This record gives sequence, structure tokens and C-alpha cells, in this order.
Amino acid sequence: ARSALGRRNLVLVGLMGAGKSAIGRLVAQHLGLPFIDTDTEIERVSRMSIAELFAAYGEEEFRALETRVIKRLLRSGPRVISTGGGAFINDRTRAQIQRGGVSVWLKADLDVLWERVNKRDHRPLLKTENPKQTLKDLMDRRYPIYEEADITVLSRDVRKDVITGEVLSAIL
Ligand code: S3P
Repeated sequence: ARSALGRRNLVLVGLMGAGKSAIGRLVAQHLGLPFIDTDTEIERVSRMSIAELFAAYGEEEFRALETRVIKRLLRSGPRVISTGGGAFINDRTRAQIQRGGVSVWLKADLDVLWERVNKRDHRPLLKTENPKQTLKDLMDRRYPIYEEADITVLSRDVRKDVITGEVLSAIL
């Protein structure tokens, strides 16, 4: 599978809770490539948490930083990169990802996503009156855009190595 990628990056996209980081880490192990999560990288360079960044500078600044970080990561690859849920939605960032990598959309349904995000509350976009409805609204808005990924893999409630195997066979 690695040779099919060549020098390109493998970039996981999709909504929060789809399993991008967990699956990305496993896929990277199989490919013998380094793994990096863009939110983790943003937190490292800014020395702030994502929640703090949103609170202090707002979403627009966060997106600008996200674009810069992803651009740099794509250039210095190949790697397996898991992106924050909004990265592929941003026109500039999506264009960069499409140029510099093979994109894989981990597609999940509302209940799977909700099950996974609702236990943790660090996601600033879900600090609303009705977070499940917010997640649903994000699905409605974003799914047509995630469709533009090269590959779609259904992230469902099965073992992670099953999904990992599906990602690996899809990039062959
Ligand atoms: C966001 C998703 C988060 C994080 C930020 C914004 C989004 O990443 O980048 O809170 O716009 O969907 P995860 O998808 O890793 O939760």
C-alpha cells in the first residue's frame, strides 16, 4: 500500500468523532510512515489548547493557523495526517490537501459521531444549547464537501483494525 502512495501524504478528513486520529495512527503503523494530528501540531506550535485558541482568537484565526500548519506538514511528508473536522471544509486548505496527498473521508452517521464526542467536551464548536443538533447541522453542511475526498470509508461501530484494513485496501 505504501508504494501506491509514493511520496504523497495520506490525509484523513471527516467530522469530529469519526475516528481520524485513532485510525490514522494505526494506518501509519501499517505503512511505516510517521503519524501526525493537525490539532495536536497546532496546539504544540501555539502552546495553547484548541479550546483556548478559539476563545482567545476566534475561529477565523484558528483556520488561518490550521491552513499554515497543514501546508507545512504536507510539504515535509510523506506522512499520515489526521486533520481537524473543519480543515477540508476550508477552500484553501482543501486545495492544499488535494494537491499534496491522497484524501480519505471517514464517514460516520450521527449516532456513531455523537456516541464518541459526547463523552469529551473539549470541542469548542459543540459548546451550544443542543450539541447533537449542532453536530447534525455540521453533517448537513459538510458532507457534500467531504464527498470531494479521493476515497470514502465508512467508519462504523466495528473494531478499529477493520476500518484500518479498509483504508489500507482502498489506497492500493
Ligand atoms: C473542528 C474540529 C476539531 C478542531 C476544532 C474545529 C471542526 O477537530 O479542529 O475544534 O471544525 O470540525 P476534530 O475533528 O479532531 O475534533
